[in-house]
Amino acid sequence: MKRTQFIKNLGLGTLAIATSESLLSSCMAGMDHGTAVAPIVADAEFKTALKIPETINASSTLVAQNTQDTIMSTSKVNVLGYRNGLLGPTIRVQKGGEVNIPFQNKMKEHTNIHWHGLVIPDIMDGHPDQMIMPSESFNFKFTVAQQAGTNWYHPHLHQLTGKQVTQGLSGLFIVESPEEKALNLPSGNFEVPLVIQDKRLNTDGTIKYSPTMTEVMTGYMGENILVNGTNKPFLEVSTRFYRFRVLNGSSARIYNLAWSDGADFYVIGSDSGMLASPEKVKTVLLGTGERIDILVDFSSLKVGEMVYLMSEIFNTMGNSQGNQPFKIMSFNVNKQETDAFKLPLTLIPFNKIQNSSKTRTFALTMDMKNMSAGMHKINGKVYKSDRIDESVSLGTTETWEFDNSTGDEAHPMHMHGVIFQVVSRSGGRGTILPHEKAWKDTVMVGPGEKVKVIMTFAQKGKFVFHCHNLEHEDDGMMLNFEVK
Ligand code: C2O
Ligand code: CU
Ligand code: CU
Repeated sequence: MKRTQFIKNLGLGTLAIATSESLLSSCMAGMDHGTAVAPIVADAEFKTALKIPETINASSTLVAQNTQDTIMSTSKVNVLGYRNGLLGPTIRVQKGGEVNIPFQNKMKEHTNIHWHGLVIPDIMDGHPDQMIMPSESFNFKFTVAQQAGTNWYHPHLHQLTGKQVTQGLSGLFIVESPEEKALNLPSGNFEVPLVIQDKRLNTDGTIKYSPTMTEVMTGYMGENILVNGTNKPFLEVSTRFYRFRVLNGSSARIYNLAWSDGADFYVIGSDSGMLASPEKVKTVLLGTGERIDILVDFSSLKVGEMVYLMSEIFNTMGNSQGNQPFKIMSFNVNKQETDAFKLPLTLIPFNKIQNSSKTRTFALTMDMKNMSAGMHKINGKVYKSDRIDESVSLGTTETWEFDNSTGDEAHPMHMHGVIFQVVSRSGGRGTILPHEKAWKDTVMVGPGEKVKVIMTFAQKGKFVFHCHNLEHEDDGMMLNFEVK
């Protein structure tokens, strides 16, 4: 029996064992990878009203700073934020709109902002080279030329991303367009962002971030699942359709999203764009960094009922997680309402790119050789800021294949400076999933899988691509590419 299987068979709550001396030393000896199991998410009542981040326009100031928020109890603890409390404001911009955000770093260490999902010039993209030192400022100025979608922003520093994101720095960046408006999707109170992040807490209630070596392998997971910075939240809803923009903003935890009553829901958007038509699903396995835009119909529920957004068990992403079903948040039906909204048959045309002129292959691996440089590798390499790993000609269309066929961990692979389409997945789940049938910037490459994406490089400059398991990323599972 493989050790990873043994750990899994022990069932839940084996974190202590998984991180114990003996496993660590056998892992050092390279017997196998050793796997920590995701901490148990305890069930409890969902008693706190879901916080909704404030919405700002694209010329408001952001300040990375020490601030306070309530996480567990009613008393406030120190966290990082872009304004007040966990999670930055939601920025909304029209397609074609200008962004002009004065940013200040009021923290004690360097930071920057990466606009995840936006295709913008490299000097604005938050490459790990671009460090904004304590008490420095930077003006983020760019045009949003892309279609409607749910993007997000967060720090992007080599070796500090996991920590700063976990401590509270991230926010949504929503692009709207006239084409999307014309669909008359649920809006206002009926369009709700859900940023899902797991947190491990210290006994004083502050957010803990201290991955062990084993947790660098599995990713750092917490036992508290927060939505929009709210622990065990509820949302009061009416008997009608809602639109939820869901971001998995966790470091490493993957969620197999489903409703506790087994209801269908409709995927209308992926990371950076809308699907051609709604896809009816019962579950979506959402990796870190990925987003889905969904429509949910509560009209068959009765006032007084509640349903939960769940993460169901899954077994396609390695042994460290997926062992436990848990509730993420509760939706309490408190109002009868008749809803004129009809699910549209079509959304926004999605034209497939073809005619790729080149294929590049990237082997995703983990090994203990030269561990101080990092264990997670792409084509045998660990991130080096001044090395250009791939050179691409501006305007070309290429196919990139991420090959995790020998791996036993999940790698959500993310690209900067470009958005892509998923062309194929072989091995593992062996198929393109409903929420992958539109523009994406992050794709889950599960154990045993090879995933091909196609894209046209339209933005000049030096960018990174990397695994969005933030511990893997900080461990060096990231390379540079230059478009010129
Ligand atoms: Cu969300 Cu390179 O990151
Ligand atoms: Cu990104
Ligand atoms: Cu990874």
